[in-house]
Amino acid sequence: MTRARVRVALVPPAPGSLPPEACAVAVDVLRATTTLAVALGHGAARVEPFASTLEALAFREATPGVLACGERDGRIVEGFDLGNSPFEYTRERVSGRTLAFASTNGSIAMLIASHCRRRLLASFANLSATVEALAAERDVWLICAGKEGRPAVEDTACAGTLAQRLHERGATLANLEAHHAAKLACHSADEVRSLVESAEHARWLTSLGPAFAADVVYCATLDSLSQPASW
Ligand code: MLT
Repeated sequence: MTRARVRVALVPPAPGSLPPEACAVAVDVLRATTTLAVALGHGAARVEPFASTLEALAFREATPGVLACGERDGRIVEGFDLGNSPFEYTRERVSGRTLAFASTNGSIAMLIASHCRRRLLASFANLSATVEALAAERDVWLICAGKEGRPAVEDTACAGTLAQRLHERGATLANLEAHHAAKLACHSADEVRSLVESAEHARWLTSLGPAFAADVVYCATLDSLSQPASW
């Protein structure tokens, strides 16, 4: 049997560039994929990603029961039902609901993966559960959201930790970015915490106030969720 192949994109690649038969994993540690993994863990029925906030609002207007969710400049968008904090996505609020999600970087990474056979959302919160979910996959693409077209260390390290764990199980690191990211792999909860909390985006979020600082602490916690997040 051919060895599994793991490839990483440090920023979202061009639309349509991923093979449709691949298993694509979107990674936006701060905060989109952490938040959506919480939402799906709390019973959200479906996540529909959008590049623009207007598209998400239009989808909500056209589809009864949909919640418009996401952020711009880190804050909830005017007219939206939820922002981008994992603490907002309680079971009471999202169970059974479809989320029209528009964030600056995370939803873009999801859109790039939207035509793939299988799609997962990964972060440090569900890292080990995601490794288990990928164990039988042959062609894995780890798509980092980054920040406005630039790699983000927290996403690269998360993808690198996933890639390294799959490599330890026999998978091939099949592109340069995968080898680069694997060098940033974290090997303990403390390593994850210090890397994420010292990241540029974490410091910026923390500067927005205590609620955002609490989000950073949550996103920097390894394996707080026991289930993988499919969308
Ligand atoms: C994003 O998608 O750009 C981030 O999740 C933004 C944020 O931290 O809210």
